[in-house]
Amino acid sequence: MSTDELLNRHRAVMPNWINPLYADPIELVSGSGCRVTDAAGRTYLDFFGGVLTTMIGYDIPEVSDAVRRQLDKGIAHSSTLYLIRKQVELAEKIAKVSGIANPKVFLANSGTEANDTALLLATQYRRSNQILAVRNSYHGRSFAALAVTGQRSWSATSLSPVNVSYLHSGDRLRGVFAGLSDAEYIARSVADLREVLATTTAGDVACLIAEPIQGVGGFVAPPDGYFKAVKEVLDEHGILWISDEVQTGWGRTGEHFWGYQAHDAVPDMLTFAKGIGNGFTLGGVVARGEIMDCLNAVSFNTFGGNPISASAGQAVLDYVLSHDLQSNAARVGEVLHGGVRGLNCPIVAEVRGKGLMLAFELVRPGTLDPAPELALRVLEETKANGLLVGKGGLYGNVIRMGPPLTLTEAEAKEGLDILAAALAAAHRQAVAA
Ligand SMILES: Cc1ncc(COP(=O)(O)O)c(C=O)c1O
Repeated sequence: MSTDELLNRHRAVMPNWINPLYADPIELVSGSGCRVTDAAGRTYLDFFGGVLTTMIGYDIPEVSDAVRRQLDKGIAHSSTLYLIRKQVELAEKIAKVSGIANPKVFLANSGTEANDTALLLATQYRRSNQILAVRNSYHGRSFAALAVTGQRSWSATSLSPVNVSYLHSGDRLRGVFAGLSDAEYIARSVADLREVLATTTAGDVACLIAEPIQGVGGFVAPPDGYFKAVKEVLDEHGILWISDEVQTGWGRTGEHFWGYQAHDAVPDMLTFAKGIGNGFTLGGVVARGEIMDCLNAVSFNTFGGNPISASAGQAVLDYVLSHDLQSNAARVGEVLHGGVRGLNCPIVAEVRGKGLMLAFELVRPGTLDPAPELALRVLEETKANGLLVGKGGLYGNVIRMGPPLTLTEAEAKEGLDILAAALAAAHRQAVAA
């Protein structure tokens, strides 16, 4: 069966709000290391990892063997009605690296579920449904997660179980905070936070939920130290802080294990998903014990942290730590960031991110006008030359990359050459327009 035929069947039976990338979408049928192969036999270097999820690369024996060992026992599922050794072990390991005091861990299946749970905990603990969220954020697709998502193109409904006030994103390219220095930005946004609390809430706000670096939002981030300054205000009111580490966790930023650690402050809860399963469905919440235990009803999660995904999760975390992939992210990330900055491409308005989390924003030459058409061109050009990258940002004009943390310097340079050619083609298109 051809890929075209599969696309037609996809369109006939799947929701039309699930959109594969590219004018001619591809089906990935095999993978090894940082490379994947499509159904037509073309191989690509993968700089997106299925949206920062294949975090240690494809076909990693340590992960497959751990999953196979569990499958061979004949128990793929038992439910939390019974003790799950793999789950307890994984929770212990995550608690240990979380940096949160007196931690407890809830294991779920996705980032959406993780954030939904964190919001449930915060609203119950604080007995309030008032939430602070951030413009340009993305936290998932449940009602509660969508309600704290600050992007029109991802907001499918206004129905909401929570009452949300939005803070500014870290955007300093455009908008009211454009061009501010780090210190000015922090001072102005803390003043804004105080004003929001005084004007748009009824007091007793439950929590702030925020990504240290906004993933879907195109890797927009406030300056280091921002969350420390914000937390000082939150603490004055007893407001909890949830750090959504779904994209920034496990050493991806190179300089730290968690995104929050760039801010010299510790959140009350952190949420994780994506990379920890390296493709197996796994997400969760780490919370201070008294917050995790605040629910006064029984709660049950059929699949969360089941023996298969918990086995995978342990193998992934052990691999990240034993191979010191955080250091690799720092080292190879520097090559990637330096390479993209060094291109000095006139249609790139800003290069963002940290470590192996890198994005650049495309604009029409000589302006700050977002150029989603140039992002599409870069996507198609990179694909044609054997590189997979992602897209994002409020205006769909940001190219995002989050390759496996195992990426080598040679692979980074190979990808950079393809990116340089794609940007040159996009630039020619922009000049000709
Ligand atoms: C920061 C962040 N939080 C939450 C989610 C939702 O995770 P999931 O798609 O696993 O539900 C995403 C997904 O892209 C994300 O990037």
